[in-house]
Parts: sequence; structure tokens; C-alpha cells
Amino acid sequence: MRVLVVHGPNLNLLGEREPSIYGTITLAQMDEMLREHGEELGLEIRTFQSNHEGALIDELHASRKWMQALVINAGAYTHTSYAIRDAIAAVGVPAYEVHLSDLSARESWRQVSVIADVCVAKIMGKGVGSYLEALERIAGAFPR
Ligand code: DQA
Repeated sequence: MRVLVVHGPNLNLLGEREPSIYGTITLAQMDEMLREHGEELGLEIRTFQSNHEGALIDELHASRKWMQALVINAGAYTHTSYAIRDAIAAVGVPAYEVHLSDLSARESWRQVSVIADVCVAKIMGKGVGSYLEALERIAGAFPR
């Protein structure tokens, strides 16, 4: 199965950005872990990061015929972007919302997700493990 993993704004600074919340591994290290774990699970992984809402939407559109499932950490756009929500709905593949931190234990505005209703599951609070679990669920053929 072909899986697109999308990282939203500020995730390019992983490793140096608020490490007590988001951990010390870099985005490049995380992407490598995702590719390796994907390979073990029989998944082909592509990763993409942007700080720009339109670029994230363009990538979803461009990958729509290629990907069979989507893992997305939309960063702060999770809480605000109806445009990304609509793009996820438009591409029509099973989408997993993931977050490094546990949003239920953070500010109330982070507890609002405008993309949740177009995702099959939300996995959070496990650092890179949130993404790995999403890949495992995809390999096991969905939700759980
Ligand atoms: C995040 C949580 C968001 O609230 C925040 O804006 C991020 C990262 C997470 O992975 O925990 O950029 O999505």
C-alpha cells in the first residue's frame, strides 16, 4: 500500500522546537523511521512537510491518485483550516490524524480539530509512535 505522510507548519523544526513537548528527534530522523517501519509493514511511504496551507493542499491534490491512505499531522492548521479539512475530504482516501503531543492535556483551543470528522481515527500523545501506530493500523487494513 502507498501511504502519504504529511507534516504541517513548524514540524520542520522538530528536535529544536520545544523539545519538552515535541521531543528531540529531527524531522529527517522521523521520516527515516517512518520509511523503515513502513517497509517492515509492506507499505511504501512518501513524506511531505510545508509551513504553507496552500502547499499542503496542493500536495494532497497531487498525490490523490498515488496514495491509498494518508497520515496527517496538520500542526496548528488542525485547529483552524477548513480548507485542509475539505482537501482531505476531496481526495477521499482513509486519513489518520496524528499528533506528537497529547492535545487533551493542553490548551483548550488545541482540543478543537476541524479535520477530525474527515479522518478515520486520531492518534496522539505518543511522539513519533503516533505516526507509527497509524502505519500499523493502515497495514492491518484500517481503523481499530
Ligand atoms: C501538534 C499539536 C498542534 O497543536 C501544534 O500546533 C503542532 C503540533 C502535535 O503534533 O502535537 O504544531 O500537531
